[in-house]
Amino acid sequence: MKILILNGPNLNLLGKREPSIYGSESFEQFFEKLQRRFDTVDLEYYQSNVEGEIVNKLHEVGFTFDGVVLNAGAYTHTSVAIHDAIGAIKTPVIEVHISNVYGREEFRHKSLITSKCIGLLTGFGLEGYAMAINYFLTTKK
Ligand code: DQA
Repeated sequence: MKILILNGPNLNLLGKREPSIYGSESFEQFFEKLQRRFDTVDLEYYQSNVEGEIVNKLHEVGFTFDGVVLNAGAYTHTSVAIHDAIGAIKTPVIEVHISNVYGREEFRHKSLITSKCIGLLTGFGLEGYAMAINYFLTTKK
């Protein structure tokens, strides 16, 4: 089972960035724990601050991987290109946000990508990534 965790802009600063919202753990630290926790899964991690690179990555894995866990960061609220890329690929995508975007500023209440994803996890902290992996594991045919 191959799953990609794909993080968008500013998520490279997890641990340092607004820790009261996003926590104090870096994604690299968390990812090591995820790999140990899901040791039967071939987990990959990619982060980019560049919209087109996120689109490229979705194209790259989107016909061979079993799942993508996508936190598109601020591009969630703006990117038609990421919406279209999710629609163009075969691999199912789960949208994840660390914070509860519906409890925050109004501009975060709109996601351009949810309609193309199989589901949305928002507000469960980093645990949301694990919940998404669990979904892929338990629904695998
Ligand atoms: C985020 C929420 C977005 O609104 C924000 O732009 C982010 C992080 C989250 O994980 O809570 O960069 O996707």
